[in-house]
Amino acid sequence: MPGGGGGSASALVGARAAEVASAIDAAFDRLLASPDDPRRRLYDAMRHAAIGGGKRLRPLLVQAASDLFNISRESALRVGLAVECIHVYSLIHDDLPAMDDDDVRRGKPTVHKAFDEASAILAGDCLHDLAFEVLADEETHPDPFVRIELVRALALASGPAGMAGGQMMDLAAEKARFDLATVTRLQNLKTGALIAFCVDAAAIMARLPQEARTSLHGYARDIGLAFQIADDLLDVEGDAALAGKALGKDAAAGKETFVSLLGVERAREQAHLLVAQAKAHLHSHGCEADLLRAIADYIVERDR
Ligand code: IPE
Ligand code: IPE
Ligand code: MG
Ligand code: MG
Ligand code: MG
Repeated sequence: MPGGGGGSASALVGARAAEVASAIDAAFDRLLASPDDPRRRLYDAMRHAAIGGGKRLRPLLVQAASDLFNISRESALRVGLAVECIHVYSLIHDDLPAMDDDDVRRGKPTVHKAFDEASAILAGDCLHDLAFEVLADEETHPDPFVRIELVRALALASGPAGMAGGQMMDLAAEKARFDLATVTRLQNLKTGALIAFCVDAAAIMARLPQEARTSLHGYARDIGLAFQIADDLLDVEGDAALAGKALGKDAAAGKETFVSLLGVERAREQAHLLVAQAKAHLHSHGCEADLLRAIADYIVERDR
């Protein structure tokens, strides 16, 4: 479960997160059974990255947003699984020597350390593919138009107009001097787009008209940005043992982040401001949105 942070948001988030985390582990275990042939190493590399570890915040967000519309837990779980596939692939590739060159992830050796670089690249590729296989399956949602919209939205959130585009900007942020507007755009793409998809997916599954999706999307964008600011703050002042990854990497690489531009205190203020703004977007919802509110608080309280 997303442990630590100590706040009441953590407690509310924790109970549901534990449930989601074990369901995600079980689903990966089922989908990634290692075959007894030369592909075994590829499956084992995928299992190493995907099973056991991580906060599973994205699948939890899909569940929390789905609670607003009485979407079945099974549909929400499968959509959460697809986002987690993309997220884990992005982490495997982010850790490669060509990118952040990291040795530890989720408290374990990174995939290229435990296996080798070629296996890590292919494991990432295959998790990317698995995401769309899961979404396109009719078990995810009975309406094919909904499935197509989910596939399109996740593709947009993952590609050059989303996560991968943000990663490219992030690499450039080691060399170029970016202003706050550019760093905001970088973070929105790198991290925010996939987080926003988790919430937007619930609106898609509920077949909400476009105009009814605005406030929920506003919530998603705000917490997405707050999430990456919190990650950058943890990089400066977190505990590597709790985080399960090496910290202090952004400053060492001379990377422009909210923290490098604003300093720790103002970056933290900005994250809290975004969380308050995110929760304000939920004003028309009652207690059915309490988990979304708690997740917003947890995002800035977390210590891993
Ligand atoms: C880390 O994401 C990478 C970023 C997008 C900042 P998480 O903090 O969600 O990592 P896990 O899934 O818990 O390992
Ligand atoms: C990575 O951002 C975001 C991804 C899209 C994978 P970081 O490089 O800051 O993530 P960590 O700190 O290694 O988890
Ligand atoms: Mg990175
Ligand atoms: Mg990294
Ligand atoms: Mg980081």
